[in-house]
Amino acid sequence: MRLSRYFLPVLKETPAEAQIVSHRYMLRAGMIKQASAGIYSWLPLGYKVLRRIEQIVHEEQVRAGHIPMLMPTLQSADLWKESGRYDAYGPEMLRIRDRHDRDMLYGPTNEELITDIFRSHVTSYKDLPLTLYHIQWKFRDEIRPRFGVMRGREFLMKDGYNFDLTKEDALHAYNRHLVSYLRTYERMGLQAIPMRADSGPIGGDDTHEFLVLAETGESEVFYDSEITDLKFGDRTIDYDSHDQCRAVLEEFTSRYARTDETHDEAVWADVPEERRRVARGIEVGQIFYFGTKYSEAMGAVVDDGQGGRVPVHMGSHGIGVSRLVGAIIEASHDENGIIWPEGVTPYQVGIVNLKQGDAGCDAACEDLYKAVTAKGLEPLYDDRSERAGAKFATMDLIGLPWRITVGPRGLKSGMVELTSRRTGESEEMTPEAAIARLAGIYAPHYPQIAG
Ligand SMILES: Nc1ncnc2c1ncn2[C@@H]1O[C@H](COP(=O)(O)OP(=O)(O)O)[C@@H](O)[C@H]1O
Ligand SMILES: [Mg+2]
Repeated sequence: MRLSRYFLPVLKETPAEAQIVSHRYMLRAGMIKQASAGIYSWLPLGYKVLRRIEQIVHEEQVRAGHIPMLMPTLQSADLWKESGRYDAYGPEMLRIRDRHDRDMLYGPTNEELITDIFRSHVTSYKDLPLTLYHIQWKFRDEIRPRFGVMRGREFLMKDGYNFDLTKEDALHAYNRHLVSYLRTYERMGLQAIPMRADSGPIGGDDTHEFLVLAETGESEVFYDSEITDLKFGDRTIDYDSHDQCRAVLEEFTSRYARTDETHDEAVWADVPEERRRVARGIEVGQIFYFGTKYSEAMGAVVDDGQGGRVPVHMGSHGIGVSRLVGAIIEASHDENGIIWPEGVTPYQVGIVNLKQGDAGCDAACEDLYKAVTAKGLEPLYDDRSERAGAKFATMDLIGLPWRITVGPRGLKSGMVELTSRRTGESEEMTPEAAIARLAGIYAPHYPQIAG
């Protein structure tokens, strides 16, 4: 992409309504525009990051054996009356009436719809286990939408639902989700800590929330400092193995880590004092096991192979896809702007031409652009006739992790400059060397990169 042809409405001024850094930078970097309270348009740069996050979520869900599909945003109220949640949900649910006077709603979540799909088509234990998921917009009429995409009214969520014959199988599905979530967040450059949480309106016994530590987080969290040393890393796991998935759950949840809702002073007192941490966190996901709550209410039963018919054991598992864009910025920025982790960056490298219009610089940038693209990387080339300072400021604000600067002085000896956004360090090298370096850095994140 060439900046002269792109749509990147960067703001000079800091918008007054934005209270936290991710909201400020998303507005300033031209990533989003508020359409109405808690509802946003995703402008091209923001949309690109959102899509990238969505893609990582899909890849990790499919890797875990979960099956993608898509359910609608608008739902009939009938199913919610059946489950009893039409009355229970309260004013957060946006209720709509269609022209035939039918009660509809904009889905805040999808347990009812998916349970209806399941009961219509699955009748035998032989079709289990089954986990279906989708990534779809949700609407919750939050009383106080704030912090931009972090607490919106309309937001994008991945929600997955497991159906199993036994509690044991359903707990395996729970553990599988935990493992896949750890992988998902790490690929986005995030550490998200599973914490024991409260089950709230969905109901159920077992639930963990995944929290990214950040001062602006809405939840107060209490944890044993040893937990931040844990990394999932690039270990391979057999998602069908109950033992392997359970071992990961035990590893990541055996130390104290709870939100204020489940915090327990008596248990907390057992954590050695020097390891006790009280902080704030952003909830980026949650997993639930809730047993037969919906399957009983809605008649989702299967033949158990022994002549009986039993309600299936279920769980639901969410990732806040649009919230993650803000959470990543909260976790990774400095005073000049965003610093995207390599896994989610909208463009992998920015090319800055210090002397636009100079035949040598223009030609070198064009060659570089082609060579970077041929490697399978996406460059954003600042080809505008702006001062160098303004170009650097834009690149710093939008946060591409790597920048190649091309200027007349370096070109005399065939050199360009490769700069890390994170450290600010620059190195002179040939364009070929810069591209090879980038290919090495990005290869673990993007399989399409040419060797
Ligand atoms: N209002 C919102 N705006 C943006 N993301 C949200 C919002 N509400 C929930 N999410 C995201 O969706 C994920 C799954 O939703 P869920 O756990 O059902 O939400 P909650 O904990 O708010 O009831 C949450 O972990 C969070 O990351
Ligand atoms: Mg939650």
